[in-house]
Amino acid sequence: MSADQALDLNIAELPPVERYKLLIGLVIPRPIAWVSTVNEQGVANCAPFSFFNVFSEDPPLCMVSFNRRSDGKMKHTLANIRRTGEFVVNLVDEATANAMHLSSHEYEEDESEFAKTGLTQAPAKLVRHPRIAEAAACLECKVERRLEYGSGREMVIGEILLVHARAGVIDPVSKRVSEEHYKPIGRLFANRYCTTRQRFNLPGELPE
Ligand SMILES: Cc1cc2nc3c(=O)[nH]c(=O)nc-3n(C[C@H](O)[C@H](O)[C@H](O)COP(=O)(O)O)c2cc1C
Repeated sequence: MSADQALDLNIAELPPVERYKLLIGLVIPRPIAWVSTVNEQGVANCAPFSFFNVFSEDPPLCMVSFNRRSDGKMKHTLANIRRTGEFVVNLVDEATANAMHLSSHEYEEDESEFAKTGLTQAPAKLVRHPRIAEAAACLECKVERRLEYGSGREMVIGEILLVHARAGVIDPVSKRVSEEHYKPIGRLFANRYCTTRQRFNLPGELPE
């Protein structure tokens, strides 16, 4: 690799696999939606998705983007979301990183990632899907709209109905999130992740 040459890459000229590597390598770290749902037979599912973010508070919206399973079929998570119009986004911290990564394995429909990775289901308050009891926090969502791009890519926009947090993560009075008790991780690319331990201030006052 030549380190002294700037580079312009016309994205349309690149095969999708190279676009993917470039985009997920540059846009880092990405937050991870660890989405939990249940299928029609009652099997609980969870899987991570890092094409994810929140993008507004009024209305309170998040988005998650899905491609296909390696056999070309729809991801189980997306099928469950489409069927019910609801889902739970669990947020991943250092303590749950390993289970999150393991839960990305493409298990069969009748196998639960909860059982496979030793996670515990807890009932959500406003949606019918379980949340992950071990997660630091979660967002209970209902589908606001879905956008399909071709046959293989779909974006789900969720309206966030309820925020649940483990004790200590959110101060009940100030509603501030604790830096001490909330240690989220981010996705880089492939099997690489990062912590959020090295935080810093910049000078100057900003409006809250
Ligand atoms: C950290 C991480 C992020 C991922 N992000 C996405 C994503 O944004 N979109 C997607 O379709 N798959 C993504 N995956 C792959 C899914 O987690 C994987 O396909 C999973 O098996 C889907 O499970 P399901 O079929 O039970 O829904 C990601 C995997 C990992 C480990």
